Amino acid sequence: MTSATEQGATEQGAPQAGSADSAQKAGAAEEYGFDEPTAAPLPPDGPVTKDDPFAKDVLPAPKNAQFALLRSLLGPHRARVWLAAILLLVQQAAVQAGPLLVAYAIDHAIPAVRDGRHGALIAVACGYMGCGIASGTLQRFFIRVAARVSQDVLVDLRGRIFRHAQTLSLDFHERYTSGRLISRSTSDVESIRELLNDGLDELIEVVLSAFYITALLIFLDWELGLAALVSYAPLYVAIRVYQRRSMVAYRKRSTAIAAVIVKFTETMNGIRPVKAFRREEPNDEAFLELNHRHERANGDAILEMARYVVGSRVLANVTIAAIVMWGAYRVADGGMALGVLAAFVLYLRRLYDPIDRLGMFLNSYQSAAASLEKIAGLLAQRPTVPEPAPERAVPLPERTGELPGRDVVFDEVRFAYRTGGEVLPRFSLRLPAGQTVAVVGATGAGKSTLAKLLARFYDPTSGRVLLDGVELSDLTRTDLRRGVVMVTQEAFLFSGTVAENISIGRPDASREDVEAAAKAIGAHDFIAALPDGYDTDVRKRGGRISAGQRQLVAFARALLADPGVLILDEATSSLDVPGEKAVQHAMHTVLNGRTAVIIAHRLSTVEIADRVLVMRDGRIVEDGTPDELIADKGHFAGLHQAWRNSLV
Ligand SMILES: Nc1ncnc2c1ncn2[C@@H]1O[C@H](COP(=O)(O)OP(=O)(O)O)[C@@H](O)[C@H]1O
Ligand SMILES: [Mg+2]
Repeated sequence: MTSATEQGATEQGAPQAGSADSAQKAGAAEEYGFDEPTAAPLPPDGPVTKDDPFAKDVLPAPKNAQFALLRSLLGPHRARVWLAAILLLVQQAAVQAGPLLVAYAIDHAIPAVRDGRHGALIAVACGYMGCGIASGTLQRFFIRVAARVSQDVLVDLRGRIFRHAQTLSLDFHERYTSGRLISRSTSDVESIRELLNDGLDELIEVVLSAFYITALLIFLDWELGLAALVSYAPLYVAIRVYQRRSMVAYRKRSTAIAAVIVKFTETMNGIRPVKAFRREEPNDEAFLELNHRHERANGDAILEMARYVVGSRVLANVTIAAIVMWGAYRVADGGMALGVLAAFVLYLRRLYDPIDRLGMFLNSYQSAAASLEKIAGLLAQRPTVPEPAPERAVPLPERTGELPGRDVVFDEVRFAYRTGGEVLPRFSLRLPAGQTVAVVGATGAGKSTLAKLLARFYDPTSGRVLLDGVELSDLTRTDLRRGVVMVTQEAFLFSGTVAENISIGRPDASREDVEAAAKAIGAHDFIAALPDGYDTDVRKRGGRISAGQRQLVAFARALLADPGVLILDEATSSLDVPGEKAVQHAMHTVLNGRTAVIIAHRLSTVEIADRVLVMRDGRIVEDGTPDELIADKGHFAGLHQAWRNSLV
């Protein structure tokens, strides 16, 4: 599957979730519809089409989209964020009071004890304890408030990713693999969670305590304080260098892990073609290489970390030693109190101790920031096939007659996929309400494209598609789905019972309606024979449902939806001939009065059509009743003759 490296080859390479029950079908590229959004397999090196922005992890987004996202995530929790900030400020003040008390004890309270006055020392001891208790209690509250905020934010974020990914149009999903969507909502959310739960509070604490401590040092002794301040400069440089290098290492690592996930999901989604073409070994090799690449990237990140830890420790100890020595001389000269020097040493230790962990926090901060950027890029994508604004939406006209059919017009439609040339050049067509139209033509002629435009999976590049005179892009989603339903060969079943799968067509349908639809389609008998009948879980073993049966369920779903226009794109190709006969019978029921577009390889399916369209290169080359076309001795007549011959 990795051989399908170009975007144009998407269809051929697209792994199918469970549509190829017979392995041979895996090769028949055109039978693998467009419905499976995982599409576009990535080669081991990542995207081939380097200029396609969708091939990158970070999607094009407005500048600073990640900050806007952060603001919108935290906005609803503003009060709690402030509360957490205040708790932390007070808690840090309590923590940093310790060395100051020690200095006071050494320089004043202890000498007082020598004079027989104990009050000051007792007061200092109580103060020290009080600060300890206060900081512990405040920290507990802080953790609770912060945890609540971070949990809410994460729930919100995951929900947004899912909701947003669903609203994005098909062309997005064809270009942005589902594996990458999965890593957005798993590993990226996870790295943000790690920062929020295990790193952010410490990171803020370190930064905050650095401010407190610097202020206190300058307050205690401004000369030594300024010396300490100057020592931040090399440390700052070390941190910056580390950050820049680890950023590179982290980018590599996260790209590498994404490639691992993509390869994994793609292989398992396409497990049938993998088996059919014995792709296991090449897949193993490719996966191993990706796996190693990830480990190497990980190793690089760890190495950077180790360098930083060593460097920052050396720097910290040199600084402390130098300051203590200078301080000691000052004490010896009588220019500084011993207690102040002791406080200095304590503060400097507090300042420099967490420096090596600071590298780790910065790492987790960086990887969370990178994840946030990727998520923000995803969330900034807008559907290319948007639902109209409520005030702009045009209601679908009420049906006039008894019959459900609706009038369809393609008006000068031109269409090109984003990744290819023009597929439909100025296409015009009118399908009167209630007509059953068969569309035939070679693979790649544009039949499915026509169907997808009618179902509004895409919008035309120019021109209009009208349903009962209303442009599809002016219809609400609800009206559109009431108007047009498309059944494809893939017939995807969601986890849940058979009945639930049928009632997707009309969620408020009663069990009687569901059964009636299944009966009309001829699916009732096989469903009734399943272990739990209509309540059989389609994903459980024992309830295994064949491709043909899935197709019948999909028909029942469509019948229940009761649309004005029904499109069947190769929807009977999974059925064997008797199965197809049964379906043809059922089709009369389903099509009754509806406008129908039937795309079929088998001409037997075409026999029930009022009208046949032959397509070639995005144009209609023959148009008429089956009998007319046979009489015309054109392309269709040839196909028909060949088919007749094959029957005898
Ligand atoms: N998702 C897609 N992205 C890019 N090109 C596509 C896509 N789907 C189809 N095409 C191209 O559009 C043309 C028409 O395809 P299609 O409508 O699927 O033909 P048919 O259904 O008649 O076999 C083909 O050249 C095909 O390669
Ligand atoms: Mg097709």
